[in-house]
Amino acid sequence: MNRLPASPPDPEVAADALAAAREAAFLSPNDAGAHARLGRAALAADRLPDAIEALQRAVRLDPDDAAARVDLGRAWLAAAEAEKAAFHLRRAVALDPGDTLGARALVAAAEAGAAELSPVFVRNLFDQYAERYDAEMTGTLAYRAPEALHDLFARIAGAPANTLDILDLGCGTGLSGRAFRAFARTLVGVDLSPAMAAKARARGIYDRVIVGDMTRACARGAHDVAALGETPAAFDLVVAADVLGYVGDLAPVFSSVRVTLRRPGWFAATVEENPDAPPGSSTRGFAFAPTRRFRHGAAYVRRAAQAAGFGVLALEPTELRRDRGQPVAGLAFILGG
Ligand SMILES: C[S@@+](CC[C@H](N)C(=O)[O-])C[C@H]1O[C@@H](n2cnc3c(N)ncnc32)[C@H](O)[C@@H]1O
Repeated sequence: MNRLPASPPDPEVAADALAAAREAAFLSPNDAGAHARLGRAALAADRLPDAIEALQRAVRLDPDDAAARVDLGRAWLAAAEAEKAAFHLRRAVALDPGDTLGARALVAAAEAGAAELSPVFVRNLFDQYAERYDAEMTGTLAYRAPEALHDLFARIAGAPANTLDILDLGCGTGLSGRAFRAFARTLVGVDLSPAMAAKARARGIYDRVIVGDMTRACARGAHDVAALGETPAAFDLVVAADVLGYVGDLAPVFSSVRVTLRRPGWFAATVEENPDAPPGSSTRGFAFAPTRRFRHGAAYVRRAAQAAGFGVLALEPTELRRDRGQPVAGLAFILGG
């Protein structure tokens, strides 16, 4: 997993350490070690762009600092930049032939391509995008995943008005919540990005918006569940519009959604479509695209749904949005059980 090192439990401690490291690097601009320490402090504080900048400076000042190369490699992996990660990690292996820093395993991960997007990367991406999101998505990108999903769900479930407890995974600024609000008795959103969640709250259509990871928010025993409700089976409908592209393997999300859904319950979601490999092929059924999002195949979605105990009530091709004028092919699906 391309995760960054675990953050200290107290964000204030991490912020103080980052401020101190920043000051030290400012006072010693040509000290490679000071920039490497700043990079590490930024990683611990989940400040990925700052970490990359500081670690790049550290390796420019001291190209033979294997530990800084490893940290920079980890940071690039977390940013889904596998080639850049592999470059620095290979240099680290050459500088540290005994592999005391564990760079070899990271090279292998980088060469296999970034198999997982770091939550820190996704959060930073959307924190920066939040202000422009609605205008760009509904304008030039002609985004219509929420509407496509709404129409498909209404067809399958018969548009139940004001009766459902709904959880909107990766709710963003609330475009998906807006499409489903008419079905809701209660509507809860969860999103990794505080800036996107703030926009969703400001929309005034959610009963609650939680900042956190969607899988953890659904999973039984995760501390976020306390915020969602006392019992795991808390929702009639879970929605994930244009969110699963930030996840490769869908199994953990599907099984945690199963836990948070009542029986009967529905899971309505979209994915960007990955052409299915021929039957019997060993490919995984999803791929990391040059757009730095994952694409998933229809057969893979069906297998993952079945493995999590869902039936596939509908699964259809749909146009999610436009990218440089070209349609982005997707799948909209409703799982039930
Ligand atoms: C393309 S936006 C879609 C937002 C909204 N569903 C819509 O239809 O406009 C994707 C959102 O998913 C969120 N996200 C991505 N991965 C997530 C995760 N693991 N847990 C929670 N939110 C996540 C991002 O922060 C972002 O706000």
